[in-house]
Amino acid sequence: MQIPEHQVEEIRANTDIVDLISGYVQLRKRGRNYIGLCPFHNEKTPSFTVSPDKQIYHCFGCHAGGNAYKFLMEYKNISFVESVQELAENLGIKLEENSAPNTEEKSEFEELYEINVIAAKYFSNNLLKSDGGKIAREYFKNRKIKSTTNTTFGLGYALPEWDKLLHHLTESKVNLQKAKDIGLIDTRDNGTFYDKYRGRTIFPIFSPNGRVIGFGGRVMNKEEKTAKYINSPESKIYSKRKTLYGLYHSKEEIRRLDRAILVEGYMDVISLFQNGVKNVVASSGTALTEEQVLLLSRFTKNIVVNFDADLAGQKAATRSIEVLLKNGFDVKLISLPNGEDPDSYINNFGTEEFNKQVENAKDFLEFQTEQFSNSGAFDDSKKSAEAIRELVKYVALIEDELKRNILIKTISKKFNLREKLLEKELDNVLELNEKNETKSKVRIEKKNTTNISLLQNETDSNASFQFEKELIKLMLESSEEIIENVLDYIHPDDFKNKTFNTIASTVEKCYHKGGIATSQIIEEISDESVKTVALSLALGDEIISDKWNKKKDDEDKIKLNHLQKAKDLVRKFRISLIDSQIKANNHQIVVEENEEAIMELMRENKELTLQRKMIMDGEGNSDLI
Ligand code: CTP
Ligand code: MN
Repeated sequence: MQIPEHQVEEIRANTDIVDLISGYVQLRKRGRNYIGLCPFHNEKTPSFTVSPDKQIYHCFGCHAGGNAYKFLMEYKNISFVESVQELAENLGIKLEENSAPNTEEKSEFEELYEINVIAAKYFSNNLLKSDGGKIAREYFKNRKIKSTTNTTFGLGYALPEWDKLLHHLTESKVNLQKAKDIGLIDTRDNGTFYDKYRGRTIFPIFSPNGRVIGFGGRVMNKEEKTAKYINSPESKIYSKRKTLYGLYHSKEEIRRLDRAILVEGYMDVISLFQNGVKNVVASSGTALTEEQVLLLSRFTKNIVVNFDADLAGQKAATRSIEVLLKNGFDVKLISLPNGEDPDSYINNFGTEEFNKQVENAKDFLEFQTEQFSNSGAFDDSKKSAEAIRELVKYVALIEDELKRNILIKTISKKFNLREKLLEKELDNVLELNEKNETKSKVRIEKKNTTNISLLQNETDSNASFQFEKELIKLMLESSEEIIENVLDYIHPDDFKNKTFNTIASTVEKCYHKGGIATSQIIEEISDESVKTVALSLALGDEIISDKWNKKKDDEDKIKLNHLQKAKDLVRKFRISLIDSQIKANNHQIVVEENEEAIMELMRENKELTLQRKMIMDGEGNSDLI
């Protein structure tokens, strides 16, 4: 679907980004802006900033940022079109379907999703209908997967040949290079394409909104000497760290029960789901990442971890506990009998028994104690002390002081230790954590300031760099007067610094299109790193500046001040441009042999000097120079 540009603009203009984001993030006013804890990374002190004036947000910690559309896209993992649709709905604006034939360029994301859908349908058809798919039908039947489950999870089968999908993609007029980018096919040394998934059962991986973002393919014969699973590579539409397998299917049930069950594998999710345990997601064979935990926390903060009983599974469980506790989750764990995974357990013992396991899940402290105990950590007093210290470290990750105290009491009882002793230990760990956090915060802040100064090339003199930076900042103030003033005298190419140059030409482009809102300009910038710079320039100063705390009467004065400042900067900028031109001409004069050319250069310099004087004398400008 193509939404007409004027409606995209209308919706953006009528959406208030502060209202929008307040629905998801707790914001409080700080000067002119609002700040809150960033929903895109874990932090304890807010560096997430929303500007009502500029209608943009930016996180100074993780550099996420953009306008209202971008926020929804990132937060909900949806496409641009979907985010426009959602905001239109909020405003009660009816979208005009574009009647023109759909020859416009689709967004690249849309195209990649479409390729995945074509592949997913093809694989599914193989499984459900093709002759060659019989073996896969047998396989799933043996594993007690019902045919309705095949459809629910879009399961499929890749035929054993090397070019079946390739042919299908070619017939469907798919851009093969793009199909390669998302890992469906690959190229041989001689440049010809071949199927990556062959003779494997296929598990499509969905985004939380049901888009096919990737695939897992499992060998059917474990004896085969190839990887058990082939998974989609990282791509524009798939990031393993950010994905929870099954979430699209389970999110409603997770919300309803306010609890999620975390398992390791695709098959675990599918088996539990078809047996009625529908609040299940998989981390796909690894410990949970911070991103996955943040994603899950939109649906619940209660989790029951049910990894495999083997060593790898238990290790992954232990590492996941840490990330979960840090993010305020209530963590419980299930240890199934040795040799069982959730899939085999529910098939062998039934749903009721599985639910009992969930109800009797141990809290993380019990689980961890047992882990230590099994590895002999309580065999002598020295090791015991170490193990108990470790337990206290986990407790220290919990933000809630009351919860911490209760857990300390539990440990004290369990090991028959004085509470005071454990409290002291806890205080030590907390103090240490705090120190480390301040350190890493300083690191982040340093990174932010250098972030922009790093842009400075060797060719940029410090003065011109500062000039340009200040001018760009002012151009991002959404003031038509300022932008006009700059563009009247300075061409975007005059900005020596490449990043500033890009931002300036974007402002120019937007100005000619008639839309100078900061949020529009930001959206127009396609290069992510340039965008980050623009965002932090647009918001940077206001965070530390207290001038915004002043009364509203002062606002006009501030605007006027900014215009004045812009005029001064433009003047200085023009003078510096002239100076460098004169300098360049002088160099040329020294090496030039043609007398005519030398005369010409000298005339030019005279003209430039005159211009310079006129600018210096003022055209009504202030006396700052
Ligand atoms: N995994 C992977 N690559 C492998 C092995 C495992 O990506 N070579 C991931 C898959 O996401 C898999 C999960 O780790 O689902 C758990 O692995 P495992 O328990 O071995 O697989 P199951 O999904 O349980 O598959 P099955 O029951 O068919 O053995
Ligand atoms: Mn398994």
